[in-house]
Amino acid sequence: MTDHPRIPLAGVIGSPIAHSKSPILHGHWLKTYGIRGYYIPIDIAGEDLETVLRALPKAGFVGCNVTIPHKEAVLAIADVVSDRAALIGAANTLIFRPDGKIHADNTDGYGFIANVKQAIPDWHPNEGPAAVFGAGGAARAVLASLLEMGCPEIRISNRTKARAENLRTEFGARIVVYDWVQAGNMLEGAATVVNTTSLGMVGKPEFRVPLDALMPGAVVNDIVYTPLETDLLRTAKEAGCRTVDGLGMLLHQAVPGFERWFGHRPEVTEDLRNRILNA
Ligand code: ATR
Repeated sequence: MTDHPRIPLAGVIGSPIAHSKSPILHGHWLKTYGIRGYYIPIDIAGEDLETVLRALPKAGFVGCNVTIPHKEAVLAIADVVSDRAALIGAANTLIFRPDGKIHADNTDGYGFIANVKQAIPDWHPNEGPAAVFGAGGAARAVLASLLEMGCPEIRISNRTKARAENLRTEFGARIVVYDWVQAGNMLEGAATVVNTTSLGMVGKPEFRVPLDALMPGAVVNDIVYTPLETDLLRTAKEAGCRTVDGLGMLLHQAVPGFERWFGHRPEVTEDLRNRILNA
């Protein structure tokens, strides 16, 4: 009998999955670092999620990323859920441990912070209040990471105000809820602004707020990355703000998983950004 080498397999599970840029991203890193491993997209129907997840470690998988629509459902299947994933209510990264246990984590908040820090190294969330627009899954990851980094106050505003109020109940006293795009006072003295809504995305209306009351040199981040320069970022630049586009969040959230599965901490480079943009 031939002895086969252990080749680490990882991938991304979701449905549909063909549009996912993760295989290109991880494939680029595997090639760049000369790692013998594979990263495979897997389309899984909801009713088969647990069966397939339990089969993957036996097939040589060391973990996987998780995308829509399974990010919440995997929490109920995982044997261990990180505090961060539990707070966000979703996981995007699974680690299959040698003892067969599935560990669920969420690295979206890490990706958000790492992206802004790479673009603006002297930015720190504890510099002053943050203003976050939106109350969906992306907002939850952003809130969790800002709180973890010591942000003193997070002002949130969402079209459906009840969703923002629910976030205040869940995330606690440092969250302050504002009416939807009563942005004038919401932005007063804010050091960080984040748009987590889908406004500004190709095919959606622009996201517009008056930015004149912000702290001088405030950081404005749009998690939308199609297009890279949204109307919000263009206006912010004109107003003297420091701006960060959303593409890096997608790239940085993949770093912890790759490191864990393949044993090498990958870098997010300009070349990688261009590859993903053109993919
Ligand atoms: P994600 O997980 O990517 O955050 P989501 O849960 O669908 O996605 O959230 C999308 C966010 O964009 C929500 O905050 C949503 O506002 P509602 O909670 O009111 O739906 C916001 N959004 C989407 N389209 C919008 C629009 N046309 N105007 C204002 N907000 C919008």
